[in-house]
Amino acid sequence: MLVLVLVLAILVSSTVVVDAGNFTQDVDITWGDGRAKILNKGRLLTLTLDQASGSGFQSRNEYLYGKFDMQIKLVPGNSAGTVVAYYLRSQGSSWDEIDFEFLGNLSGDPYVLHTNIYTQGQGNREQQFYLWFDPTIDFHTYSVLWNPSQVVVYVDGTPIREFKNLEGAGVLYPKSQPIRVYSSIWNADDWATRGGLVKTNWTLAPFTASFRNFSAKKACIWLNGASSCSSSNGTSAPWLTQNLDDAGQMQMKAVRGKYMIYDYCRDTKRFPQGLPLECSLTTKS
Ligand SMILES: *[C@@H]1O[C@H](CO)[C@@H](O)[C@H](O)[C@H]1NC(C)=O
Ligand SMILES: *[C@@H]1O[C@H](CO)[C@@H](O)[C@H](O)[C@H]1NC(C)=O
Ligand SMILES: *[C@@H]1O[C@H](CO)[C@@H](O)[C@H](O)[C@H]1NC(C)=O
Ligand SMILES: *[C@@H]1O[C@H](CO)[C@@H](O)[C@H](O)[C@H]1NC(C)=O
Ligand SMILES: *[C@@H]1O[C@H](CO)[C@@H](O)[C@H](O)[C@H]1NC(C)=O
Repeated sequence: MLVLVLVLAILVSSTVVVDAGNFTQDVDITWGDGRAKILNKGRLLTLTLDQASGSGFQSRNEYLYGKFDMQIKLVPGNSAGTVVAYYLRSQGSSWDEIDFEFLGNLSGDPYVLHTNIYTQGQGNREQQFYLWFDPTIDFHTYSVLWNPSQVVVYVDGTPIREFKNLEGAGVLYPKSQPIRVYSSIWNADDWATRGGLVKTNWTLAPFTASFRNFSAKKACIWLNGASSCSSSNGTSAPWLTQNLDDAGQMQMKAVRGKYMIYDYCRDTKRFPQGLPLECSLTTKS
């Protein structure tokens, strides 16, 4: 009995380790000349920024659809002027992209989560949020679900934005270009904090953000021009057809009502010729 329990415990713990993702296996550090570090046997990754450079990494795999989770702990204290990005992006000049950008702030002032979605090189779909927690104290989970019918952006499992496939109505949708997952930290004190009013205080450098538990377990890996999709039982992948249900819609509506501070779909001054098509086709929140 004890042996069985031990075996089970080992099985469970090894599954957890596999589930938790391993940066050594999953990503390549792509820039920063030593400012990005993989630690703790691949369980932790840190990115730093100093006056000379930021740093970044990208997933080894390319994916065409998936549910991507990353746990991030942002730069603490005075992070004004810094930006940490976590995004999905395809190659080329008419790329698709789904963005999280965390805009730093003075100590005690709130981070802004800036999001955007590009289809075939065209973005201009910014939505910004305050967070309902201090993102510098603990790790929080930032996720994208991307399947043929919609993109949903989540914070700690709460949907904050969706982009539906409205191709039938003439809105481009990301559906054929494989992406990689990227993350980076850089200086953006020309625009990030209060529109560029607050500059990075370099005496506080290096600025460090931490990452753990990257997961793309539910995803279609793109290899040599073909895609192969994971699924829990080998025959189906429910996430590929998943839609935000009524409860999710209500959660999203509540969170947007409370925490959204900018929505391109409401910026009539910016789009005097009329709001982008998807704005009138998506339920108002
Ligand atoms: C890592 O993520 C998985 C889901 O992707 C979750 O079940 C697990 O609890 C996470 N681990 C930690 C340490 O948060
Ligand atoms: C992560 O992968 C590397 C290389 O394969 C390995 O050396 C390391 O032990 C793995 N880490 C964990 C926590 O299993
Ligand atoms: C920083 O704090 C100020 C003052 O509270 C706020 O107006 C701003 O939205 C915050 N975030 C950024 C990124 O500027
Ligand atoms: C930058 O940070 C240092 C150390 O906390 C502080 O002494 C200095 O006043 C700050 N500079 C500005 C311009 O706020
Ligand atoms: C696989 O999962 C799907 C959806 O959860 C279910 O409908 C199907 O019966 C499962 N197949 C097997 C072989 O367990």
